[in-house]
Amino acid sequence: MEVKSCKGGLRVLESKEVRLEELFPLSLRPVIGFRVEVLKESIKKNGYDPACPLVVQKNGSGYLVVNGCHRLQAARELGLDRLPVVEFPPEEDPVKLALRTQENDENVQPWDFLDRAFLVKRLYEELGTQERVAERLGWERSNVSRYLAIASLPGEVVTVIRSSVTVQGNSTVTEDCDRGHRKNLDDLWSVRWFRHICSLPADELKLAVVKKIAEAPEKWKEKDVASECARLKKRHELSTRIKEVLEGQESCEKELVELLDAVKKGVYDDRPEKALERADAVLKARQRTDLELMQEFGYEPEVFTVWRFNGRDERFGQKHPGNIPAGIVFNVLYYWSEQGDLVIDPMAGGGVVIDVCRAMKRRCVAWDVHPVREDVVKHDATRPWPVEPGSAALVFIDPPYWKQKRGEYRGENNLADMDLEGFYRSMRVVFEHAKRSLRPGGHLAVIVGPTQEAGRVHDHALVFARLLEDVGFEYVNRVIVPYTTQQVTGFDVAQARKSRFLLKLHRDLLVYRKAGD
Ligand SMILES: C[S@@+](CC[C@H](N)C(=O)[O-])C[C@H]1O[C@@H](n2cnc3c(N)ncnc32)[C@H](O)[C@@H]1O
Repeated sequence: MEVKSCKGGLRVLESKEVRLEELFPLSLRPVIGFRVEVLKESIKKNGYDPACPLVVQKNGSGYLVVNGCHRLQAARELGLDRLPVVEFPPEEDPVKLALRTQENDENVQPWDFLDRAFLVKRLYEELGTQERVAERLGWERSNVSRYLAIASLPGEVVTVIRSSVTVQGNSTVTEDCDRGHRKNLDDLWSVRWFRHICSLPADELKLAVVKKIAEAPEKWKEKDVASECARLKKRHELSTRIKEVLEGQESCEKELVELLDAVKKGVYDDRPEKALERADAVLKARQRTDLELMQEFGYEPEVFTVWRFNGRDERFGQKHPGNIPAGIVFNVLYYWSEQGDLVIDPMAGGGVVIDVCRAMKRRCVAWDVHPVREDVVKHDATRPWPVEPGSAALVFIDPPYWKQKRGEYRGENNLADMDLEGFYRSMRVVFEHAKRSLRPGGHLAVIVGPTQEAGRVHDHALVFARLLEDVGFEYVNRVIVPYTTQQVTGFDVAQARKSRFLLKLHRDLLVYRKAGD
C-alpha cells in the first residue's frame, strides 16, 4: 500500500472513514466510564470532530484500534455509523505505536500513569518477565517494576486516584480535542510518589494516604508523600504491637479499640512507648494468673517429679491415637512458659497442646505430617521449621514412641514407620530445628515411653538425652510420668515374672534449655 504521509516521524498509510463494525479495540488502556460519558456529551453537542481520527492498524477484514478506544466506545453508545481513522502499517508494534502516537498527536488524550501501569501489567502477563517488558517498551527495568507496583494497587485506591481529576473544579477529563480543558493525572500526581505509597504494608494505609492526597494533589510534593507514608507506617507498626499484647485477651476489647483509635489519630506519634506501656498496664490489670487459669480447669501445678496423669481430658484435643493427658501440658506450660509466649508443637496429633495453650493464654503453632484439624499445618518436623528463628519460648514434642502406634498414624516420613536408627536420626534433626526456633533461654520438653520387646528394652529417653546434649541443649529436669498398671495385661505380667524381666511402667518427660539467657 502507498505511504501517504508521515506523522511525528511515523509512516501513515491512509486517512479515511471506517464503519464501526470493522473496528475492534486493542484494549491497551482500560476504558474508563466517566471518560466515555464526557466524550458522549461532547459528541452530542458538537458532533464528532473529524480532526480526531482513531489510530488503527489493519487486522484481517477489520481494523485494530490502537488509540481511540474511548472514542470508539462513545460512538458505539451513541449509535454512530462511521468514524475517521488514520491507518498505520500492520508491521508496526501496536504497543510502541500506541505510546508514540499519543506522544505525537495533540488530538489524542495523553496516557496517564495508570494507563501505562495497566499496559505494563498486560505486557508482563503476556511476556512473563520484567526484562522482556523493559525490552519491548525500550524502558529501564526499574521503571517497569515501578509501574507493576502501581498496577497492583487495589481497585479502590485506583478509583480514588482517578476521581481526583474529575473533582478538580470545573476542569474535566475530555478527549474532545479542546486542549484548553484537557487535564491529565500526570499533571497532578507524580509516579515517584508511588515508591512510598506502594511500600506501605497494608492496603488500608495505601487507601488512606491516596485519599488524603486526592483532596488536593497539586499541594503535595514527594517529600510530603514520603513523610506521610513514614508516619502511617509507624502507626501501623505500633498498632500491630498493641494488638500482639491485647488482641484475643478477654475483657480488654474496649481498651484495645480505644488505643488503636488513638494511634490512628496520631495521639502517640511522638511517644509510641506510652501506648505500649498503656497496653501492658491494661493487660496486667485484667490478666488472671497461671494458677487461676489452671484452677479454672481443675488442675494444680505438680510439686514433685512424678506426674500421675492418665487418660484423655475430653475438653482438650480431638480424639487421636496417643493423645497426651492435658495435665502434663498444663504443668509444662506452667513451669516453662509465660502468658503470651509462642509455643511450638511440631507433632500435634489431636492438638491437645493447642487447646491447653489457648486455655493458658499462650500462642501456639502446630504441625503434623497428617493433620486432623484446621489449626494444625501439614508439615514434616524433620524439614526446616516455618517459624521465625529465635521466636519460640517453648517447644513441646510428643513424638510417636517409635513403632508403638505403627499403622495408626499416617503421612509421609512418619516417625512411627521408621527403623530404630532412622527414628533417632530424625529426632536429632527435630531437636536441631527446635533449637533454631527457640529464643535464648527457651525450653524444649519431649515426652517418650520405652519400647519393650523380646526381653529387650529400648529406652528412648536415654538416647534422646544424649542427642539433646549433642545438639547443644542444657539439661533442666526429668519428670517420670507413670502409666497405670491397668494398661498391662495379666499375661504380660506373668511372662515378665517368669522370665525375670522388669516391665517399665512410665514415660519420661525430658526438659532442656537453649543456652544464652
Ligand atoms: C503421639 S502423637 C501426638 C499426639 C498429640 N500430642 C495429642 O495429644 O493428640 C505423634 C504425632 O506425630 C506425628 N508425626 C510423626 N512423624 C512426624 C513428622 N515427621 N513430622 C510431623 N509430625 C509427625 C504423627 O502423625 C502423630 O500425629
